[in-house]
Amino acid sequence: MIRLASPDIRDADIARCNEVLASGNLVQGATVEAFEQALTDFTGFGECAVVSSGTAALHLALLAAGIAPGDRVLVADFTFAATANAVVHAGAEPLFCDVHPATYVLTPEAVEARLAEAGNGAVQAIIVVHEFGCPADIERICKLAGDTGIRVIEDAACALGTVADGHHVGYYSDAACFSFHPRKAITTGEGGAVISRDMKLVERVRRLRNHGIERLADGIDFTDAGLNYRMTDFQAALAIGQLQRYTQELARRRELAGVYQALLENEDRLALPLPPAGHSWQSYMVVLAPDIDRNRVIARMREQGVETNLGAQALHRLDYYSRRYGETDERYPSAARLYDSGLVLPLYGRLDERQLETVAQSLGRVLDHV
Ligand SMILES: Cc1ncc(COP(=O)(O)O)c(C=O)c1O
Repeated sequence: MIRLASPDIRDADIARCNEVLASGNLVQGATVEAFEQALTDFTGFGECAVVSSGTAALHLALLAAGIAPGDRVLVADFTFAATANAVVHAGAEPLFCDVHPATYVLTPEAVEARLAEAGNGAVQAIIVVHEFGCPADIERICKLAGDTGIRVIEDAACALGTVADGHHVGYYSDAACFSFHPRKAITTGEGGAVISRDMKLVERVRRLRNHGIERLADGIDFTDAGLNYRMTDFQAALAIGQLQRYTQELARRRELAGVYQALLENEDRLALPLPPAGHSWQSYMVVLAPDIDRNRVIARMREQGVETNLGAQALHRLDYYSRRYGETDERYPSAARLYDSGLVLPLYGRLDERQLETVAQSLGRVLDHV
């Protein structure tokens, strides 16, 4: 079976975890700090607070940016549910916005139109999702938002290594949130991070992840109603080696994405993703022609020994959001189409060109018969 994704965990990574376990320092200690430092060294700017998941990172970034009950947050409609769930848990209302049909991310034009439609002062923040590692035009979106005082949070769960407008993601916005779930670029099992150039925001995230505790000259006090979203040190230990190898992994993923583009460019039963510079290719998703049953393709590909999957969800379609807002596909044609027909193919650094050829040939055979 050619797997869809496969974490790159080596003996040295496990040995590092064992060392931490043997030390007895298990939570929010020196290894967590070392991982935070390694992450900011990798992105090249800002401060970092690691937390217990990507969802926790989004929740805390919203709270630290001052998003409060009654606020409205514009959210890309094509993403994982956690993007909007974090908004709901901050007490705010998500306002969905359609994405580009070939990059799968928000465009400044779509954001501008949705903000205008919502009306002056109706939106307090935007969550830009760099879905599958594809860089959204974040500099222009931040400019748009900055002109009106709107906060911008990047959902970079899939975008470690993504470069947008000349910088690693997180540079232009209020904060970027990463996930270290096993399906992501590097993994801590469960885990996440907030990176920002706003030191005050990161301090607030650090306080909120740790019960709202503030260290004072004469002890501690609880200055916020915080949460427990801390990461353990043995989780951080698992990721340090992966991060050291990640520059190489990233280069290989970019190479392999190019191989897929070349192998599939003449396949007229599917559309290829646009490959903007700076893409980190956490996932490679194609879009099948509308008359093809995607779920059948997934089942048939499995029979051929190739694991594939759908890409992400159109949030307005999910049961919870559909009951809450009752919206139809009419406003979100691209997200609906990507949700129905998106097909993610295997992509990670340890695959070779021959395996990608096998995937492409299997897909061709399956499409001949569905
Ligand atoms: C775009 C996006 N946002 C947020 C998340 C949530 O991350 P986590 O699973 O680490 O909570 C994910 C993870 O699947 C994701 O893909």
